[in-house]
Amino acid sequence: MADTFRLNGKDVEFKPGQTILEAARERGVEIPTLCHLKKATPTGACRICLVEVTGSRNLVSSCSTPVVEGMVVLTDTERVHRTRKMIVELMLGSGRHDCMVCEANGNCRLQDLAYRYGIAEPRFQPAETPYPVEDENPFIVRDFSRCVLCGRCVQACNEVVVNRAISQGYRGSKSKIVTGGDEPYHRSECVFCGQCVEVCPVGALTEKKARGKARDWETEKVRTTCPYCGVGCQLRLHVKDGKIVKVTAVEEAEPNKGRLCVKGRFGYDFIYSEDRLKTPLIRENGGFREASWEEALDLVASRFREIIARYGPDAVAGVSCARSFNEDSYQMQKLFRAVIGTNNIDHCART
Ligand code: SF4
Ligand code: SF4
Ligand code: SF4
Ligand code: FES
Repeated sequence: MADTFRLNGKDVEFKPGQTILEAARERGVEIPTLCHLKKATPTGACRICLVEVTGSRNLVSSCSTPVVEGMVVLTDTERVHRTRKMIVELMLGSGRHDCMVCEANGNCRLQDLAYRYGIAEPRFQPAETPYPVEDENPFIVRDFSRCVLCGRCVQACNEVVVNRAISQGYRGSKSKIVTGGDEPYHRSECVFCGQCVEVCPVGALTEKKARGKARDWETEKVRTTCPYCGVGCQLRLHVKDGKIVKVTAVEEAEPNKGRLCVKGRFGYDFIYSEDRLKTPLIRENGGFREASWEEALDLVASRFREIIARYGPDAVAGVSCARSFNEDSYQMQKLFRAVIGTNNIDHCART
């Protein structure tokens, strides 16, 4: 017989090892979360997911408490609401949460929670942060005054991308997310994969290049494949007025499952570069002149023919591009082996 527990007055089944949050969500019961990060160890840091459990004097965090047979859980009581509201009010008082000028406005979990729990005005005087904004690197802005110390960035760095560049540092009002030695990102172990930015639920970590370009609701989200390497990570382009303003990862997609490297996440400027080649170039008289694809390809084919006729097929070699699709690389080796007649074929990823 399946294990059961009582959820909001109904007996429901659960799977061994499930947390209250997982079992409740599977039953369509919504519990708000903030620090909870899928694929990482629950920390119970923010307490917004608190629920009542009969027999427990205190409310318990549903994201980090396993269900047990016969447990009686209430997710929607007046006490639960009152406590969650107080937690949001404390977070709002923990720093500078002036949504109007925050980059995350419209894409902020704290803002959503404040709205959900009907917080019309701040209850506590915002605390001053002792740490200035850090923006010396080209990719990420860290605004400690907006950080709610949920720890999602630390978990993403340590458990999801396993770069182990950041951790929780100091104590009490001096608490801060730090790198080893509390150096700025660019002088630390950070590889600028941006996973911490992706998971930050507020405006504490934002992408530098995207700042001021668009509000989240103004952008169309376009799913595509990263053009940089053969891994084929799934991206979501945030597009405003036909221009990419930001790139995020597609969470539930193979092969990257919500992760990206520095190139896929931040390397999209080349699309709009003035230096970008738009037509083939033919070298002539010590310089280059623009040519049509037809002319360029005819020239390459005729030069190949000449070389092969004079020196044989092993006098030519091909190096296919790591940025091309597998299918294109396959066709490239077919062209060299079956059409030209040489095994001189390689791939630039090996270099
Ligand atoms: S950018 Fe990547 S490596 Fe650097 S701190 Fe964030 S998650 Fe860690
Ligand atoms: S920087 Fe963002 S993700 Fe990291 S602890 Fe602060 S609020 Fe949480
Ligand atoms: S995000 Fe990085 S690893 Fe993924 S396909 Fe692009 S370049 Fe390759
Ligand atoms: S979401 Fe459960 S403690 Fe933060």
